[in-house]
Amino acid sequence: MTIPVEQLRLYAELAEWWPLFTSPEEYKDEVAYYAKVIKDELKGEVKTVLELGSGGGNSASHLKKHFQMTLVDLSENMLNVSRKLNPECEHVLGVNKVFDAVYVHDAIAYMHTEKDLRKTIETAYLHCRPGGMTMMVPDYIKENFTDAIVTGGHDKLKQGLRYMEWIWDPDPSDTSYLSDMVYMVRDENGQMNCVYDRHILGLFSQETWIRIMKEVGFIPKVIPFDTKSDTEGVLILFVGHKPLK
Ligand SMILES: C[S@@+](CC[C@H](N)C(=O)[O-])C[C@H]1O[C@@H](n2cnc3c(N)ncnc32)[C@H](O)[C@@H]1O
Repeated sequence: MTIPVEQLRLYAELAEWWPLFTSPEEYKDEVAYYAKVIKDELKGEVKTVLELGSGGGNSASHLKKHFQMTLVDLSENMLNVSRKLNPECEHVLGVNKVFDAVYVHDAIAYMHTEKDLRKTIETAYLHCRPGGMTMMVPDYIKENFTDAIVTGGHDKLKQGLRYMEWIWDPDPSDTSYLSDMVYMVRDENGQMNCVYDRHILGLFSQETWIRIMKEVGFIPKVIPFDTKSDTEGVLILFVGHKPLK
């Protein structure tokens, strides 16, 4: 069962709290590495990048220093948060152009069936110019998954948000895992509201990723994550080059 984005409370009624959930600073080192990989892979022949599932735009706030970014998300509320952070970027609910590169960061985790993963890879293929590339960054693949607890959050004057994310996999034989989240949200009067939110996320083996990328038409490549950065979870980037013809 796929949970519609409008029922993911983090991206719906809590979207305006996103900047207190996570900050652009937390993405800085990780995204610098992604920018380097995109430039290296396309040998500098890259100007335009499409980001699918760009959310609050934290990742884009760093990539826009290198590329002309077009940002797409299903949640209008999240696009509005990103518009404030990245007013110079184009924000759209859908797009009909081709780009030098198509980048999908943690939003790829919302694809938890092979059918949906394939559809996203096909969408990336359609939006890449010949000779362009896609880069997808799943938080986990089958081979590196472990249960985990992640905590975080920020304050802004009297407002604040703290969260605990409990990552676990009730059925290791299928292609999904769970992120059960609890947010404690403190408003400007000091009132505390506690919200529970379940996210169903995808878990595929490296072999599955590579197979689908090939079937869609990309020439796939697995790039290890820069281990000098302390980014949690992410160990592998999937790059796909679209042949020139
Ligand atoms: C973790 S957030 C992305 C945060 C982003 N990496 C950033 O830097 O701010 C995940 C985003 O994926 C979006 N999303 C989830 N499922 C989607 C889908 N099927 N199509 C497009 N966007 C989707 C959500 O609306 C949400 O904004």
